[in-house]
Amino acid sequence: MKKIGIIGAMELEVEELKSRLSDTRVTNKAGMEFFEGTLNGAEAVIVRCGIGKVNAALCVQILADLFQVTHVINTGVAGSLNAKLDIGDILVSRDAVQHDMDVSPLGYAPGIIPQLESSFFKADETLVRLAMESCAAVNPDIHVLSGRVLSGDQFIAGKEMKEKLVSTFQGDCAEMEGAAIAHGACLNRIPFVIIRAISDKADDSAEMDYPSFERAAAGHCAKLVADLVTRI
Ligand code: ADE
Repeated sequence: MKKIGIIGAMELEVEELKSRLSDTRVTNKAGMEFFEGTLNGAEAVIVRCGIGKVNAALCVQILADLFQVTHVINTGVAGSLNAKLDIGDILVSRDAVQHDMDVSPLGYAPGIIPQLESSFFKADETLVRLAMESCAAVNPDIHVLSGRVLSGDQFIAGKEMKEKLVSTFQGDCAEMEGAAIAHGACLNRIPFVIIRAISDKADDSAEMDYPSFERAAAGHCAKLVADLVTRI
C-alpha cells in the first residue's frame, strides 16, 4: 500500500493541501503536527516541518519511522538561480545538494559530505516524470523545468552569493530544506521529489519580491501536488 509523505516548511506551503485532506488524524511529534488521511483518493501524511535543514531532516525521519511512508514529496517556494526560471514558474528536482556543506580545508569539493556515497541526491525518475505530467495537466500555462535544487540554512538575497552558487554548483533554485529531505529520504531508501515554485530571483530584489509572490507561488505547487498523488 502506498503512503505519501508531503512536507512543506511553512504553513502557507501546506494549508491548501491540508484543506483537501479527508478522514484526518493528527499526531504531534518533535513539535510538528502530522496530518494523516486521504488526499484525492491517495493515502497521505501532510506536515509543516519548519524552516531549515535540521527541521526538514527530522521530519523525514519521523515520516519513515512512525508513518512508514513509501514516497516523499517536498513542496514549497524557492529563489531562482536560472535566468530561464521566472517568478511563478516551477522547478521539479533532478537532484539536490546542500550548498552550505563545506569541508574544503580537508580537500573535499564544496557540497561534498565526507564518507557518503553521493552528496548530489538524485530524485526518483518516475516521480519527476509524473510531476512534469501533473504540471502540464493542471498548470498548463506555467513554465516548468527539471533541474538542481540547492539547499542551505541561508536566505539568498544578493547577486554575489547567487553567482557563486551558480558557478560552484550549477543550481537552478535555492531554498532551505529540499536537499536535507533528499538526504533523509535516500538514507531511508524512500523515493523523493522536490517541487518548488519560484517566489523571487535570489538577488537584490529578493527581499521585496518574496513577500509579494510567496503565496501565489506556493499555490501553484499545491495544485500540482494534489494532482501528483493521484498518479503515484
Ligand atoms: N525560499 C524562497 N526564496 C528563497 C531564497 N531566495 N533563498 C532561500 N530560500 C528561499
